[in-house]
Amino acid sequence: MEDLREKRIWLTGGTGFLGRAVVAELQRQQFKNILVTAHEEVDVSDVEQIRRFLADEHPQAVVHLAAVVGGIGANRERPAEFFYENMMMGTQLLHESYKSGVEKFVTIGTVCAYPKFVPIPFKEENLWDGYPEETNAPYGLAKKMLLVQGQAYRQQYGFNSIYLLPVNLYGPGDNFDPASSHVIPALIKKCLEAVESGSETVEVWGDGSPTREFLYVEDAARGIVAALRYYNGAEPVNLGSGMEISTRALIELIAEHTGFTGKLIWDTTKPNGQPRRCLDISRAEREFGFRATTDFREGLKHTIDWYKTRV
Ligand SMILES: NC(=O)c1ccc[n+]([C@@H]2O[C@H](COP(=O)([O-])OP(=O)(O)OC[C@H]3O[C@@H](n4cnc5c(N)ncnc54)[C@H](OP(=O)(O)O)[C@@H]3O)[C@@H](O)[C@H]2O)c1
Repeated sequence: MEDLREKRIWLTGGTGFLGRAVVAELQRQQFKNILVTAHEEVDVSDVEQIRRFLADEHPQAVVHLAAVVGGIGANRERPAEFFYENMMMGTQLLHESYKSGVEKFVTIGTVCAYPKFVPIPFKEENLWDGYPEETNAPYGLAKKMLLVQGQAYRQQYGFNSIYLLPVNLYGPGDNFDPASSHVIPALIKKCLEAVESGSETVEVWGDGSPTREFLYVEDAARGIVAALRYYNGAEPVNLGSGMEISTRALIELIAEHTGFTGKLIWDTTKPNGQPRRCLDISRAEREFGFRATTDFREGLKHTIDWYKTRV
C-alpha cells in the first residue's frame, strides 16, 4: 500500500481538541507535509476559501475534522446552526476536494448519527435503522449525509472517501466552556468549582440513567491516522473503546477524582439525551488494526490534572 507519509495532508479543524491530537499523532508517525488551517485562515463554510486553498496548496489527502460541536445544551439552543454549518462545510469540502484531484478524503462523523434506539453494541450496519435522539439529530444527520455523499462519489467517480464514527471523546485539551462543553469537562468543572468554593451540592442534568462510552482523545487520533493510512473501504467504521458507563457512575468517579464529597442534585427537568451508547469496535480492529488502549480511570485522571494546571 502507498505510504501516505510523503503526501500533503490537509486537516480542517486541526487546531481544535481532536485536531491537535491528530496533528501530534501524524508528527509522531513522521508525516512530512501536514497542512493545518485555523478557522480564521480558511473558513470551510466558504466555498471560495476552500477552492483557493486547494488550488494554492494541492493537498493530496484531506482529513475533515472542522465542525460546530457541543453538548446537549448547545445542540438544543442552536440546532439550525449545528445542521447548516456542518452540512455546508462537509458537502462543499468533499465536492471541491474531489474536483481538485485529492486522492483520499477522511470524514470524521459522530456517534450522534446513530438511531435513538438500536441494539447494544451499535453496529455500523444498524446506522440507518431509525431516527437519532432528538436533541442531537440536526447535528448527527448533517454529518451522516457526508457518509451518503462519500459513498456516492466513490460509486460514480471512484473517489476514495472513508467515513469514521467516533464515540464521545475526552482528554487533556478538551473544551471546558460551559456554553458548549461535553459531559466530562462540564462535570469536572462543576465538581472542582464546588470543592474550591466549599459548596455542598452539584447539580447534574437528567436522572443519571443514560449510559455513555468514552474514547481518550489520543486513542481517537491513533485510530484516525490508522484509517488514513490503511483503510480504503466504502463502509463506515466506528471508533470507540468498547466501555459503557452510566452517567451516575461517571459523576461518582469524577467526584472521587476531584475530591468532591457533597450531594449530587439530579435535575430531571433537563434531558437525558440518548438512553444508551456503546459501540461495536470490531470493524476498526479488523480493517486497520485499531484498538483503544487508555484505561478510563487513567484517562480521566490525566484530564483532571491537565485542567487543574489551566485554572
Ligand atoms: N468531541 C467529541 O466528543 C466528538 C465526538 C465524536 C466526533 N467528534 C468530531 O470530531 C471533530 C472535532 O471535534 P472537536 O471535539 O475537536 O471540536 P472542536 O475542538 O470544536 O474543533 C472543531 C474545530 O473546527 C473549527 N471550525 C468550526 N467551524 C469552522 C469553519 N467554518 N471553518 C474552519 N474551521 C471551523 C473550530 O474552530 P473555531 O473554534 O475557531 O470555530 C475548531 O477548531 C468534529 O468533526 C466532531 O464532530 C467529536
